Amino acid sequence: MHTLTVPLPGSPPRAYDVILGPGARHTLPERLAALAPGARFLVVADATVAPLHADPLAAALAAAGLAVDVLTFPAGEANKTVTTWAALADAALALGVGRDACVVAVGGGVTGDVAGFLAATLHRGLPLVQVPTTLLAMVDAAIGGKTGVDAAAGKNLIGAFHHPALVVADPEVLATLPDEELRAGLAEAAKHGAIADAAHLRWLAGSSAGIMARDADTLLALIRRSVEIKVSFVAADPGEAGARAALNFGHTIGHALEAASGYSLRHGFAVAMGMVAEAEIGEALGVTAAGEARALAAALGRLGLPTAPPPGTDAEEILRRTRADKKARARAPRYALLARLGRTHGSGGDWTTAVPDEVVRTILLRSLSRAPDDATNT
Ligand SMILES: NC(=O)c1ccc[n+]([C@@H]2O[C@H](COP(=O)([O-])OP(=O)(O)OC[C@H]3O[C@@H](n4cnc5c(N)ncnc54)[C@H](O)[C@@H]3O)[C@@H](O)[C@H]2O)c1
Ligand SMILES: [Zn+2]
Repeated sequence: MHTLTVPLPGSPPRAYDVILGPGARHTLPERLAALAPGARFLVVADATVAPLHADPLAAALAAAGLAVDVLTFPAGEANKTVTTWAALADAALALGVGRDACVVAVGGGVTGDVAGFLAATLHRGLPLVQVPTTLLAMVDAAIGGKTGVDAAAGKNLIGAFHHPALVVADPEVLATLPDEELRAGLAEAAKHGAIADAAHLRWLAGSSAGIMARDADTLLALIRRSVEIKVSFVAADPGEAGARAALNFGHTIGHALEAASGYSLRHGFAVAMGMVAEAEIGEALGVTAAGEARALAAALGRLGLPTAPPPGTDAEEILRRTRADKKARARAPRYALLARLGRTHGSGGDWTTAVPDEVVRTILLRSLSRAPDDATNT
């Protein structure tokens, strides 16, 4: 079992642990009892994950003498909404959940974000424990304290910073995860390599077969290094005032593609497409070293990830949607760009770059005019 500690700002200094290892979920009853003695545990899961992983956890908690309720909502990004948040909040209040409750999010990034926002808002803030069940949530979404829901105007536009009190990631639960969801999680792991560790990105690309075969050692090594990178960015900048913006690499275009698809495009796939486009944007601006976009696309291709926007994508719609991005200032979208693979562009207080619409338009039109596989056949 590995423990990584994420420091939080403020005084006295606080921190939370990320526990990672096969079988880690079986330590939850003991850990939760120690974390919040006397609490009522509110386990939140989507309807797919509930019978697989949330109900067994709730049974284990109950067997350990803890008070527990399970709340569910329909699976999928299309349900990461204020409507779902309100329904969960009403259900929790109808159960009589008070300020002594602790929210336990069991699921992928959608569950972590919605349940996290529930914890941030219910009774003005309840403790939160993240139990990620997708690769994407283990390497990324469960750590860092960003919670929230999507709005009609765009992704993640309603939310709050609410740091978890504990994260428990057990790779064994990935046994039930569909292949395409596992693959989608690789996009965020590749992002961590692209922004901070080119060798990790190369290792990932070369380990594709072992990862997809769910080799336990390979998965553990992947998650561990990726979590280390995420933790290093979060620890340096918990409120995303500066350097943490690097974690948004690929996300300005990625979020726009995801929203434009009506959320039928998986977040991880949209991020993979977005990273290649944003590496090309960086090259066009002269801030990213020449050839890096092609190398990144080749690595993502080896992981079976898409590297160009879906055919039929409307470049003007994508441009319009990037203006609603959280990083936009005065409606001018800002991008987290690379200097090269393994290193972000930026310094001091400025880690994002304004990009003229014309540059984005040119890159989008160019990648749309390429055959879908061109970017990876290099
Ligand atoms: N808060 C953050 O810092 C952060 C970071 C990255 C991504 N995100 C968010 O995370 C979301 C994407 O997360 P995701 O890809 O995990 O999506 P998800 O939560 O929708 O999970 C994907 C699918 O897998 C199913 N599933 C989950 N675990 C399973 C398991 N063990 N076995 C079988 N099925 C399982 C779910 O029911 C769902 O259908 C996006 O909304 C994104 O914005 C947040
Ligand atoms: Zn993401």
